Amino acid sequence: MSKAVKKVYVGMAADIIHEGHLNIIAEARKYGYVIVGLLTDEAIASYKRIPYTDYDHRKIIVESLKGVDEVVPQKSLDYVPNLQKIRPDFLVHGDDWQTGIQKKTRQRAIEALKMWNGKLIEPKYTKGISSSQLIEAVKKRGITPDMRLKSLRLMLSVRPTLRVMEAHNGITGLIVEKSKVYVSGGVREFDALWLSSLTVSTSKGKPDTELVDFYSRFQTVEEILEVTTKPIIIDGDTGGEIEHFQFNVRTMERLGVSAVIIEDKIGLKRNSLFGTDVFQEQDSIEHFSEKIRAGKDALITDDFMIFARIESLILNNGMNDALKRAKAYISAGADGIMIHSKKKDGQEIIDFCKTYQKFDIKVPLVVVPSTFSHMSVSDFEKLGVQIVIYGNHLVRSAYPAMVKTAESILKHDRGLEASDDYCISINEVLALIPGNK
Ligand code: SPV
Ligand code: MG
Repeated sequence: MSKAVKKVYVGMAADIIHEGHLNIIAEARKYGYVIVGLLTDEAIASYKRIPYTDYDHRKIIVESLKGVDEVVPQKSLDYVPNLQKIRPDFLVHGDDWQTGIQKKTRQRAIEALKMWNGKLIEPKYTKGISSSQLIEAVKKRGITPDMRLKSLRLMLSVRPTLRVMEAHNGITGLIVEKSKVYVSGGVREFDALWLSSLTVSTSKGKPDTELVDFYSRFQTVEEILEVTTKPIIIDGDTGGEIEHFQFNVRTMERLGVSAVIIEDKIGLKRNSLFGTDVFQEQDSIEHFSEKIRAGKDALITDDFMIFARIESLILNNGMNDALKRAKAYISAGADGIMIHSKKKDGQEIIDFCKTYQKFDIKVPLVVVPSTFSHMSVSDFEKLGVQIVIYGNHLVRSAYPAMVKTAESILKHDRGLEASDDYCISINEVLALIPGNK
């Protein structure tokens, strides 16, 4: 490139290429040599979603677009590091970033350009088309079991810590699928669904003792698969008999579930949050390791994951036992470790995570902060935890709302007060479910 040729920088994710990208590149071309800063998978995941296509594939496509001279990685949503390195004469970006979550990013880019007199060019955003709209359209058509199964591993590879929320039927599945909040730095949503044994049992009025067995749980899985696209992690209780577990992991794999977590208890399982208030027995390391190995052997793909859940802290068997088991289960082939605790201060979880980080061989670490709920995802991220599961919150919040409604109807001998005070309108309830109309 001769010195006279001006450098033009364009940042993009280019996950789903559409007319808008082509318009921006055509505009950039008018100003000189076009360098596309292609957002890395991690950069995209940090502010919106997991890209459908990975960086290497997106790079091949963008390099071959007419008008693109060079493609370089942009490792964050923030343009400044690349701008400072390249010092382009022009930065071209659609004018849509003047408002919304990229407003601050734009301001920082403008400040950086000032240092070498670079100019910002903002072509009008191409109306009526965006990758987010295209993705919504694709989501409406659903997802294949194979794509869904693989998506959890993909997420783990590009996001430091995943947020996972319990679902126990279609409606809670839809809530986890659709809930979204805008925070500084991007959109925040749940990455995956947790099919909790506690909440599905509770919603059926049954104890959380493996009474609601895999056979029934798979019906719930089907119900949730039908209305969601996000990856699913199943709470597999103890996994049951080794021979049965082998059948069940195959079914989960075939359905498109991404992972199962099994806990190292034996005999009649009781909910962990009882701790030692009820009789619960921990499995031997040897037997539980055999269960993990047998499950792994039964799988057809390398995509489905079996996570081992350690109950040593729940049962007061000590930190050393928990750490020893983590090492043994990883050796047996566990794809992840869940460490559980019922202590409120979270200290034993912190201690476990700190030691775990020093392990030579590590797999993703999972926590369920039901009792140590003051700890945030960013706290866990600092501790190296890769999956945070909100295990029971939808049932726990729905129950008091339903009781209030029932009591209000009894008290007033009519539905008016309950409708006004605790209910969404009939129109809203009808609008909840696509296809009602
Ligand atoms: C569940 O959600 O069913 C769990 C987590 O297993 S806990 O209830 O904390 O044991
Ligand atoms: Mg459970």
